[in-house]
Amino acid sequence: MNIVDVDWAALEAAAVAAMAHAYAPYSNFAVGAAALTADGRIISGCNVENASYGLSLCAECALIGNLHMTGGGLLRAFYCVDAGGNILMPCGRCRQLLYEFRAPDMELMTTQGIRTMDQVLPDAFGPQHLEETR
Ligand code: THU
Repeated sequence: MNIVDVDWAALEAAAVAAMAHAYAPYSNFAVGAAALTADGRIISGCNVENASYGLSLCAECALIGNLHMTGGGLLRAFYCVDAGGNILMPCGRCRQLLYEFRAPDMELMTTQGIRTMDQVLPDAFGPQHLEETR
């Protein structure tokens, strides 16, 4: 696997650009997410809500869909913003989603600075646990 350097400014710009596409008429809380893949692509996503509020899709859901639509692979770095362009922490469900597709050296821009996947989702449940009980 390639270890690629992270251009955090480029990721921030991609997240802000994605946020402009958000469909969030119910929460009025637009979110944009962007990630660098381990092979150097930048992918992104926005949140898409619907009238059944609980079924709304987080920006990370679109991002992971785009990951697979553009060749798959693993995530090297992640950046998420709110409507003001402020760094946003991924919600709990989306930390699990990101964990599934993490590269070993994955980093996330957080409100506390750059963090690893293990720091934002310690002791994570993952694919390995599905094997252990079989
Ligand atoms: N949201 C995201 O898109 N990602 C997160 O990690 C946190 C929450 C969205 C979901 C909903 O459309 C809005 O933010 C308010 O919760």
